[in-house]
Order: sequence, then structure tokens, then C-alpha cells
Amino acid sequence: MKYRYATILFLLTLFFCSCATPGTTHSPSASATAVPIMTLRGLAQSHNMLVGTAVNVEALGNDKTYADILGKQFNVVTPENVMKFDAIEPQQGVYDFTKGDALVAFAQAHHMQVRGHNFVWYQSLPKWLINGNFTKAQLMAILKDHITTVMKHYKGKVTMWDVVNEAVDDNGKMIDSLWARGIGADYIAMAFRWAHEADPQAHLFYNDYGTEGMGTKSNVVYNLLQDLKSHGVPIYGVGLQTHLHITDPLQEQDVISNMRRLENLGLKVQITEMDVSLRTHEEIQSGQSMPHDQQSLQSALAKQATIYHDMLDACLQAACEAFVMWGFTDRYTWLNWNGFTDTHVDAPLIYDEIYQRKPAFNALVNTFRGVS
Ligand code: G3I
Repeated sequence: MKYRYATILFLLTLFFCSCATPGTTHSPSASATAVPIMTLRGLAQSHNMLVGTAVNVEALGNDKTYADILGKQFNVVTPENVMKFDAIEPQQGVYDFTKGDALVAFAQAHHMQVRGHNFVWYQSLPKWLINGNFTKAQLMAILKDHITTVMKHYKGKVTMWDVVNEAVDDNGKMIDSLWARGIGADYIAMAFRWAHEADPQAHLFYNDYGTEGMGTKSNVVYNLLQDLKSHGVPIYGVGLQTHLHITDPLQEQDVISNMRRLENLGLKVQITEMDVSLRTHEEIQSGQSMPHDQQSLQSALAKQATIYHDMLDACLQAACEAFVMWGFTDRYTWLNWNGFTDTHVDAPLIYDEIYQRKPAFNALVNTFRGVS
């Protein structure tokens, strides 16, 4: 009897706490059904899955609400910027692990996994590397040293790495990068081999955008991965970034088909950077803001919730390993360059800029629970 009262008291406490703290449900919502008080990580765990977010390490240090929600809701984190080449090796051979270490410490304290991001990309390179005029042999030595040093530092703590990020451009051509120009197309296989040597236990990923459904770019990425696998390159999985727009939703069945064909190559699949912009690609390019009148905004948020539902549902149906978003609050999204002001430019995530849960949050909860 004592235990029954304790359980009821516990459930009531959970219910009232959730109503009183930041993160409560938006009132005019697309999925009006009240969601039971469960965390995303609890729900994901019941599917044997990871649910996560990219982390803005400055916000983690300065914003308690941000840190509280992060620790409570997610079981995997990705550093948004602090493990990129320019952040971690700002001068040649001089490594700065301070911010990465802070994130790893937070993750460990909250029993979360860490997805490392990233080693080989055409962006976020330090000036010394861009302007160095290095030979092929020098570039290979630089990349090997970078991968080896960072992976050894985080061995056993960062269990997954985006080794190569965005090697294919929008038209399906190999992207023009310092690495491709300086080393040649083999830089991809080399990077995976060096990473595997440095930490044979780590799960190594190829990560890209615009490759979630079926189409030219996803075919090119599929062929690239098939080729790497057939040459014994130690690649574990593929990250589908999933940066989407409400105006251009993907067909869920296409995404499932694509995930399954990748899995049939012997690869694991993760959604790694999901967000859903309320603007078109062109509006983003021209700096135009999202709609601000209530009716258009609510309709946009409902469309956004449907897209979050569809992508998580695809992930569940195709048994992908992780569903990771590129942030969780509109307060710090990379798409909101005006940040922290009341002129919101975009709102692609599942909590708004004052940490209220959006329809998209409810959509994820309902999808995990099998309620449409
Ligand atoms: O922190 C500095 C600030 O001190 C300075 O005043 C300001 C001036 O430009 O720059 C700030 O750094 C910016 C940083 O974001 C933090 O906001 C960098 O310029 C800017 O380049 C950087 O952009 C990041 C971008 O990758 C390039 O690394 C975004 O935050 C990050 O969200 C974005 O993430 C990428 C993934 O890595 C790969 N997939 C696409 C995704 C979105 O573009």
C-alpha cells in the first residue's frame, strides 16, 4: 500500500512539475493531444535508440535552462562547432580540447554518448591550413596527425565520429575542397583508415545533407559508400543530416527505402542534424524572415511537426540507430543569425526561443509512442 501511494505521489509530482517549468506544451498546437510526462530519451531508450542534439557549448556554460533540458531529454550529444578542425587545432600541432572536454564531462555526468563532429570537411578550416600551400605528403601527414591526436584524446569517451563530412556537392559531384585538391579522391578512404587505427572501437561515419530520400545526390553517396565498403574501408555507418524546409517535405517512404538500401550495404544509419526551417532555401539565402502573423505561424509549425513525425517514423521503421537534431531550442539555432532578439528569423527546432515545447516536440513524443 505504502508503495502504491508513493507511486501516485511520484506521478502527480511529475505532472505538476512539467506544467510549472519551462518546456511546457504550446497551447495552440498541431498535435493537440496532451502528451504524457515522459522524456525523449526515455522514449527513445524503449526503442533501443539514441535521441540527441547538437550542443552550443557557450549556451551550455551560460544558460541553466538550456543545460537542464539538455541533460534531461537527450542521451546523445554532438558538439556543434567545438570539435571542428579550426576549433581544435587552431595552430599547427597545437590542440585545444578545453571546450570539447567540457561537453564530454557534461555528457558523462548525464550518462549520454557523444558523436564527434568532424575530421574532414571543406569548411571550418584554420587559416594556417588554408594558406599553408602544403604538398600532398604534408597534407596527408597533417590530416593523419589531426585525426590520430583527437581520437586518442577522446578514446573511450567519444564513441562515434563523423570522419568525413559533406564530400559530395548539391549536383552529385565530388566537392571541391582543400583535401580533394591536395590529396586526391583517396583522402576519404585514408581518413577512415587512420581513424580506425587510432581507435578501433569507435564507430566511423560518413555524414552528408540532401541524401535522405531518393535522388541524384543520394545515389552518388550510395555508390561512394558501396565502393568504400567493397575496398574494405572501415566505415561503420552513414549520417543523414536531414536539414529540411516546410516547403519541401520528403516522402517518408523514400527515406525508408534509402535507409534500407544503405543498411543492406552493411552500414548503420543515423539521422544526425535534423531541423526544419520555416523558410525556403531562397528565403534563407536572401535573409528573409519566417512568417510572423499568428495564423501563418501556427500553420507553419503544424507542417513542421508533421515533418518531424515523418522522419522519426522513418527512422523507427528502418531501425536506424539515432535521431539527432541540430540543436533543440530556436534560441540558438544556426538558422537564426539575429539570435537572442525578438525579431525571430527562423524557428527550425522542437523548443521555441523561450523553451516552450512546440508542436514538433509533441509529434516526436507521439511518434515514439506509436500515436499519430
Ligand atoms: O563564435 C564566433 C563569434 O565569436 C564571432 O563574432 C562570429 C562572427 O562571424 O563568428 C562566431 O562563430 C561562428 C560559429 O558558427 C558560432 O556561431 C562562425 O563564424 C560560423 O562559421 C559558425 O557556423 C557554423 C557552421 O556549421 C560552420 O562551421 C554553425 O554554427 C554550425 O551550425 C554549422 O553546422 C553545420 C555542420 O557542421 C555540418 N552540416 C551543416 C551544419 C549547418 O550549416
